[in-house]
Amino acid sequence: MYKIAVIPGDGTGPEVIAQGLKVLEAVAEKEKFTYRITYYDFGGERYLKTGELLPDSGIDELRKMHAIYLGAIGHPDVKPGILEKGILLRLRFELDQYINLRPVKLYPGVDCPLKNKGPEEIDFVVIRENTEGLYLGAGGFLKKGTPDEVAIQESINTRKGVERCIRYAFDFCQKRGKKKKLTLCGKTNVLTYAHDLWQRVFDEVSKEYPDIKTDYANVDAICMWMVKNPEWFDVIVTDNMFGDIITDLGAMIQGGMGIAAGGNINPRGTSMFEPIGGSTPKYTKKNIINPLAAISALQMMLEHIGELSSARIIEQAIMKVIVDDLESMSAGEMGHTTSEVGDLVVKYIKET
Ligand code: IPM
Ligand code: MN
Repeated sequence: MYKIAVIPGDGTGPEVIAQGLKVLEAVAEKEKFTYRITYYDFGGERYLKTGELLPDSGIDELRKMHAIYLGAIGHPDVKPGILEKGILLRLRFELDQYINLRPVKLYPGVDCPLKNKGPEEIDFVVIRENTEGLYLGAGGFLKKGTPDEVAIQESINTRKGVERCIRYAFDFCQKRGKKKKLTLCGKTNVLTYAHDLWQRVFDEVSKEYPDIKTDYANVDAICMWMVKNPEWFDVIVTDNMFGDIITDLGAMIQGGMGIAAGGNINPRGTSMFEPIGGSTPKYTKKNIINPLAAISALQMMLEHIGELSSARIIEQAIMKVIVDDLESMSAGEMGHTTSEVGDLVVKYIKET
């Protein structure tokens, strides 16, 4: 019996999570596993009503779950940073989800903005460090609001934090068994302390993985190659900030936010899975947002907890919906509503 926490969150989060849960029900029935869902209403609405972001007791409950399924956090009426830091980042940090795993995979039938690139060329994974770097929020203001103001925001990179992320990436690349190539993405020509540490640890750990080819590219060059030669990549490992940026670019070359999913992973604790597109307030409650990213996040969650055949069945169903039914991956242009797309995925799962 899997204990699954569900945080539908803000904006379109609840709509897409509802589709994911229909899929979970269908696949669990088919593959004969059981689960119990506990809902948590963390998000902008609750914050605006009660002033509460994330109670400590909530975190303790989440720690006991097998996985967390998250919609989106972000509300137009709340100042930027409050919900992000108080809920999403706090969950990542407190649950020590030190890996942010983001597959960039173009499915057949999905429109790609890159000329002459298809599913053969776009299939890699970004492993983003998820608990350190600029995201820790180290720094502060001096003389705020005066002409002499100083604002400092430091990137914290610990030997342990960098090493566990890099080790995870090597392991992942090996298990993935595709091109067996791991690319470190940094900016060693400018960040001569932080990324010097990354490079040294990368070189050291690489000696334990003689079967993995290694490569290095600066983050600006990575952006260029992701557009020009995405087929060069198999697995990319990078820090928190760069990982945030390049995975939005990755989402675009795999067909957009309608399909991009990610996992916040603690290999020895509770991990959390989410569509990476955010709460998209302008599409909220219109039943037009693409739920496939949330369904892909569910697929990643099941793969993570060990339901491998269920994950495969979901991926097959997603691919079938894309080829047979969807006119586009974009909100409002799919030729189907959000709930219809969820129903189609469920139908194909039942038919397999
Ligand atoms: C993401 C998001 C978050 C991040 C925001 C909402 C804090 O952009 O998951 O990529 O920057 O990590
Ligand atoms: Mn982001």
